[in-house]
Amino acid sequence: MEKILKVGIVTVSDRASQGIYKDQGGPAVLQWLQQRIKSPVEFKCHVLPDELTQLQQLLLLLIDREDCGLVVTTGGTGPSARDITPEATLATCTKILPGFGEIMRAESYKITPTAILSRQMAGIRGRSLVVNLPGKPKSIGECLQAVFPAIVHGIILVRDVDLVAEEIAGHVGCPGH
Ligand code: MTE
Repeated sequence: MEKILKVGIVTVSDRASQGIYKDQGGPAVLQWLQQRIKSPVEFKCHVLPDELTQLQQLLLLLIDREDCGLVVTTGGTGPSARDITPEATLATCTKILPGFGEIMRAESYKITPTAILSRQMAGIRGRSLVVNLPGKPKSIGECLQAVFPAIVHGIILVRDVDLVAEEIAGHVGCPGH
């Protein structure tokens, strides 16, 4: 059984990648996960422009070469011309998990009606789970809170890893796995 889970965190933002503003999304994801995953994790953080080929290549590197069990992206999920994160995710994953996007949008909609604008999705490639989050730091916590139990259980299902994480609202992984 694996002892250390590798987690990729990818900020997809033209402006953050050019240094026009400081990346806040990636650090927000990192901090949120660090506080809740109790077993050893190695984080691999990247900041990229909204470029389809570059994001696809990075997802392939993190999954196929670096063997990350989880890759979380932040940003680039909206309807703007440059937003390509869901397309890169779709092109990379072999199984789509529609429930993640559905639940994140539904939960976010209770907080803000503009949540409908996010096309965020999730999927599996090999033994890795990829989850898209919107870019705003506030939205990151709101979305992770909604799907974190499924992220933990999804990782356990796709790979043989020892994963201990904080319970959220009484959720734990399914017994027997
Ligand atoms: N989801 C949550 N929870 N909170 C938010 O404030 N903002 C929305 C949406 N989802 C939002 C949210 C808005 S305004 C947009 S445009 C989309 O996410 C896409 O954001 P992104 O392009 O940074 O990924």
